[in-house]
Amino acid sequence: MLIVHGPEELRAYVRGRRAAGGQVALVPTMGALHRGHGELIRAAAKVAENVVVSVYVNPRQFNVTSDFEKYPRDLGSDVAAAAASGATVVYAPDDSAMYPAGFDTTVSVRRVAAPLEGAGRPGHFDGVATIVAKLLNACEPDAAVFGLKDYQQVAVVRRMVRDLDMGVRILAVDTVRETDGLALSSRNVRLSPQDRADAPVIHRGLVRARELLELGEEASTAREEFLAIVGGSGRSRVEYVSVADPDTLAEIEGPAPRAVISCAVWFGDVRLIDNLLHGVPVTP
Ligand code: PAJ
Repeated sequence: MLIVHGPEELRAYVRGRRAAGGQVALVPTMGALHRGHGELIRAAAKVAENVVVSVYVNPRQFNVTSDFEKYPRDLGSDVAAAAASGATVVYAPDDSAMYPAGFDTTVSVRRVAAPLEGAGRPGHFDGVATIVAKLLNACEPDAAVFGLKDYQQVAVVRRMVRDLDMGVRILAVDTVRETDGLALSSRNVRLSPQDRADAPVIHRGLVRARELLELGEEASTAREEFLAIVGGSGRSRVEYVSVADPDTLAEIEGPAPRAVISCAVWFGDVRLIDNLLHGVPVTP
């Protein structure tokens, strides 16, 4: 397993591999790798001989400093986990490599980044789009793999890649869950035992909302039912629940033959996001 620390080093390595005839796939992460990231790496290894996993906790996409500070960091175990899932290179830049003195550029996607996570976390998607653009430029991969767990992030990245002619294939992998339905997240370890026991209510609420849409009920009925299930449980607080157009993320009124049902729910000081697709095929 090779570990590289700067964009020039990464680019030189990747160009060498491509000259030798191999395809390259990139899996961007912030580390704290779990089985969800593992699925992304495995999907990347199916389409490319060379799999680059980037590990960088990007300060510009956190809007709460304490969340950034508390983010788990352990490069040694991330390298081992990446290797076990089939990565060939870990790209672990430090802050000075990513944001050299005088850094002054922002990539900003507008409409699709505005609602949902964009509304609750101002500046978040500017941070994401800018760092993903940098990672794609340094790596120049044939494909990059993202998780549908962060549905809006996939939409923002796809928009950016199309708009800026980045010429990379974006693959999206379905959300990996615990057996009780809770979506895997590096933030789950911060849940108290009681909140961890309660948190699967998010998935139950999403499943029920999707059932209602399948029955032809209106989007507003699905949102209300989610609130009744999730908002009424213990210490949870629903920040938003949305039934939106899967392409534009505009909120749907009335029946919804195709939709992404997404939510942000707080348990104590831990903010969890999740979503389910309705009427939209999940194909990487
Ligand atoms: P991070 O939260 O580390 O997630 C890295 C990738 O793993 C993302 O594409 C995310 O959607 C995916 N992922 C996380 N949990 C998952 C799960 N339970 N099932 C499937 N995929 C899952 O997302 C980021 O980092 C950052 O915003 C990043 C894109 C790296 C830019 O900094």
